Amino acid sequence: MTQAEDHEGTRRDFLYYATAGAGVVTAGAAIWPLVNQMNPSADVRALSTIRVDVSGVSTGTQLTVKWLGKPVFIRRRTEAEIENAREVTVDQLVDPMARNANVDGAADASDTNRTLDEAGEWLVMMGVCTHLGCVPLGNAGEFTAGGVGGWFCPCHGSHYDTAGRIRKGPAPENLPVPTAEFVEETTILLG
Ligand code: FES
Repeated sequence: MTQAEDHEGTRRDFLYYATAGAGVVTAGAAIWPLVNQMNPSADVRALSTIRVDVSGVSTGTQLTVKWLGKPVFIRRRTEAEIENAREVTVDQLVDPMARNANVDGAADASDTNRTLDEAGEWLVMMGVCTHLGCVPLGNAGEFTAGGVGGWFCPCHGSHYDTAGRIRKGPAPENLPVPTAEFVEETTILLG
């Protein structure tokens, strides 16, 4: 083999390997977006459960947190709000279902099936109107306990009571209660 042929061979080998290498890179680039789309991104995974410190939430107020891109109301109810919600019977409700991810799907919308604790002090709900998705206003509407508690959605006039149950207006369902639990005395885990 002459020196020229030897050089030619080396060059061909180099071109071959370079092309093969480029092919691998291209295939990798084509596959990656598919794989990437099938896995939720790290920030979405991290937010699928969140811990919320509720130590600063005083009675008669609520904290609104963002979870999975939506507002969640965490309300600490007054005695009047609890009484107001508990004196309502299921047959007075527009939507008789609990809509609570933490209880049996067939449970009714009694106040005790909607709250996080047995005493009924804590109510956790998605802050999304079940009509067309607006965020209802707190301490508003026709079903407050003397102006405290209750929610009103101004978009088309839906009134929710002190347990977040739809009582009047176009919204068809109670505000949904997401998966939630107390994991420490003042910490709620959502999701
Ligand atoms: S979106 Fe709330 S009443 Fe229509």
